[in-house]
Amino acid sequence: MMTSLKPFHTFGTQANCRQIVNIYSVQDIFDFLTKGENDFLILGGGSNVLFAGDYQGTVLLNRMKGIEVIDEDHEGLLVSAASGEIWHNFVMWSVAHQLWGLENMALIPGTVGAAPMQNIGAYGVEQISAFHSLEAIDLEEGTTRIFYKKDCAFGYRDSYFKQEGKGRYFITKVNYLLSKKGQAVIDYADVKALLTEDVTSPLQVAEAVISIRTKKLPDPKKIGNAGSFFKNPVVNNELFEKLKTQYDAIPHYPAGEKIKLAAGWLIDQCGFKGKVVGNTGTYQNQALVLVNHGNASGMEIYQFAKEIQGAVLEKFGVELEMEVNIIGQ
Ligand code: FAD
Ligand code: EPU
Repeated sequence: MMTSLKPFHTFGTQANCRQIVNIYSVQDIFDFLTKGENDFLILGGGSNVLFAGDYQGTVLLNRMKGIEVIDEDHEGLLVSAASGEIWHNFVMWSVAHQLWGLENMALIPGTVGAAPMQNIGAYGVEQISAFHSLEAIDLEEGTTRIFYKKDCAFGYRDSYFKQEGKGRYFITKVNYLLSKKGQAVIDYADVKALLTEDVTSPLQVAEAVISIRTKKLPDPKKIGNAGSFFKNPVVNNELFEKLKTQYDAIPHYPAGEKIKLAAGWLIDQCGFKGKVVGNTGTYQNQALVLVNHGNASGMEIYQFAKEIQGAVLEKFGVELEMEVNIIGQ
């Protein structure tokens, strides 16, 4: 007997797993480990996964809830959120308490526990900037471990948990340092354009971000997707200069010694924006977002992603790396 995963991930494609186990507490994780099963996958909101096929093992569905203030001084609060909390609810909790730090990341789908996985970010802020520490269960050793910022190897859409630590830890709590007197980050042109009045509260920033995101990105409840399918590629100066002479308008951003390009623009230039291919395609307002037009299979979306990678490599000599976690290939 297989169980359908369709309601549990935002691409909404049909995929099955052997069974789903709901995780409501840390004890539930330890209880599961005593069964000795090796084949399992942690799922939060399923908003950054693509099931290219069925998953043969057990899916552990994270439903651990709770937000707790663990320390406070005149500057701010150290807040601990259970990893199954909905990220956006946590952001709205923080802005309702007049706390700064998370407001630019309003409306990012998914759970708190997945936020450190790829160091989520939007509109000029990544979760690393408010991150203090996290608690995780080491699934190999059956022990609890605390990770501080220095242990997490956070990078652009990257962390230790997406690399060497992949699959080894169940993140159970994430602790953020939120500030009472924060500074609004409104460098992003879209955000700045909406905030004409003086910004005095984090809620104002969150509301601006929500309004931009609602216009730009498809709502997974209406059209299946997992946000940006690829990372924005970081290229060396030599390749960038070559591309710049050919494509004067190429969007680019500094990334240390290198240059970050806009994957959405590259895909758009290859003629894919809003393109419908069978049951899949790219979103009409954002070529970086692959969508399920209703009956796509995970494999169909995966093949289409490969086609896009090939086209961008051929036209620009740039390799696109998938941001979405591919499961069941
Ligand atoms: P899932 O998809 O359930 O899991 C993602 C990965 O993390 C999987 O490998 C899973 O096994 C692992 N994982 C999940 N929870 C845990 C845990 N507790 N412990 C250990 N491993 C775990 N991302 C951004 O960074 N910025 C954006 O602006 C953004 N916009 C988006 C917009 C849309 C419309 C959508 C659909 C997605 C967007 N995303 C964005 C991607 C996604 O929202 C984030 O990656 C989010 O953090 C995923 O959370 P999740 O709970 O759904 O993770
Ligand atoms: N662009 C096009 N055509 C397109 C799409 C984009 O020309 O079809 C151009 C835009 O005009 C702009 C540039 O590409 O000049 C960048 O586009 P945008 O501002 O929409 O942002 P992005 O780089 O595509 C990134 C993140 C998003 C995040 C936003 C806002 C990545 C991979 N994506 O998108 O994150 O919400 O910035 O900060 O870094 C996600 O990770 O899932 C995600 C949605």
